[in-house]
Amino acid sequence: MSTVLDGKHITLGVTGSIACYKAIDLASKLTQANANVDVILTKGASKFVTTLAFAAITHRPVVTDVFDPQSELSIDHVALAERSDSIVIAPATAHTIAKMAHGLADDALTTTLLATQAPVIVAPAMDAHMFDNPATQANVRLLEERGVTFIGPASGRLASGLIGKGRLVETPEIIGCISAALGRHGDLAGKKIVVSAGGTEEAIDPVRVITNHSSGKMGYAIAEAARDRGASAVLVSTPTALPAPYGVRMVNVRSALDMRDAINHECRDADAVVMAAAVADWRPVSTADQKIKKGASNEWAIELTKTPDIIAGLAADSLVKVGFAAESQDLIANAQSKLVSKGLDLIVANDITAEDAGFASDTNRVTILDREGGADDLPLMSKYDVGVNILDRVRPLFRRDIS
Ligand code: PMT
Repeated sequence: MSTVLDGKHITLGVTGSIACYKAIDLASKLTQANANVDVILTKGASKFVTTLAFAAITHRPVVTDVFDPQSELSIDHVALAERSDSIVIAPATAHTIAKMAHGLADDALTTTLLATQAPVIVAPAMDAHMFDNPATQANVRLLEERGVTFIGPASGRLASGLIGKGRLVETPEIIGCISAALGRHGDLAGKKIVVSAGGTEEAIDPVRVITNHSSGKMGYAIAEAARDRGASAVLVSTPTALPAPYGVRMVNVRSALDMRDAINHECRDADAVVMAAAVADWRPVSTADQKIKKGASNEWAIELTKTPDIIAGLAADSLVKVGFAAESQDLIANAQSKLVSKGLDLIVANDITAEDAGFASDTNRVTILDREGGADDLPLMSKYDVGVNILDRVRPLFRRDIS
């Protein structure tokens, strides 16, 4: 899977917080995404983690001292600042945040920060009272005014035993933040892309619903791929087990009718919509107010009625419409027919009975059909890469001019 991180230079500043150990996982995930990770450990961080732990993962020298004759910085102390595509401080202590706010440069990390033009991302980790302290809050606000992006801290149990807002956010969230920063000037910058995800829930009574096997992974991946190319991504999602992707605006829905209202609203000023959600074709004619009790009979019939066809109902004058076809047989014929009947620009056909494809898998195997008779059979790939391929085909179709 190739993402916006591929080949990028990320400088990871690690400062003296107990959460340092999580920075090893972050360095590992960034390296696995094929980023070149240069780690700078502050003196405080070196009390918690070793340079070896990071060097073994990044396969690159770790910087601890700008005056170390072995360090590249001793020759060109702004080398990292100049080659970084983004600088991330995770975890960031109150002390380092304060030094950044006041332009101090007394170690390798603050020297690099003062010299860089790259996007700076700060993931704080400290005791809750320290983060709430007016001094820390003033430093955070000052840095945000200067364009520094803060992510977290999260709330939860802290090293002190307190429960509060001071925990380092999880690695996927930091990676999402870095990806959004790296992609901000991408080829979809200025475009609004609406994506639907998950399986709708059609209520029978307050307890029971009719739903399907959609996990939301396909839609979430498309939204992340759009974010990573600079788009303003909106995800209209049913309940899923997935964390909300960083930098994507979430609109939470349950039923097909809820989804219709949300999609209609969000598509008024959108450039494209990608309907990856598994929307129920039928819903109960009526939803009982109370839980339906089991009667003496062994059978129970539920009368269903058709749901409105959301994507078919969208005006297409300035909106690129991309649908999916979830089929178990006659994949291309059924997809072709939906492409025409729903007035789509593209349709992504997937055989939901295929191995490692369709519902809940991390990968998918799709054929993308267009209105000119084109049919692109894509090999099995990550759902993120399917999203990239879909967006590659959406780009030439944009009809709304950016004024
Ligand atoms: O979420 P995952 O676990 O990752 O699984 C991914 C997926 C299999 C759900 C996804 O790849 C997929 O196929 N999504 C479409 C599922 C679906 O409803 O397909 P369909 O052939 O029934 O519907 C055709 C298109 O019309 C779809 O874009 C659908 O969102 C849309 N539709 C359907 C019904 C309806 N009332 N309104 C709609 O807009």
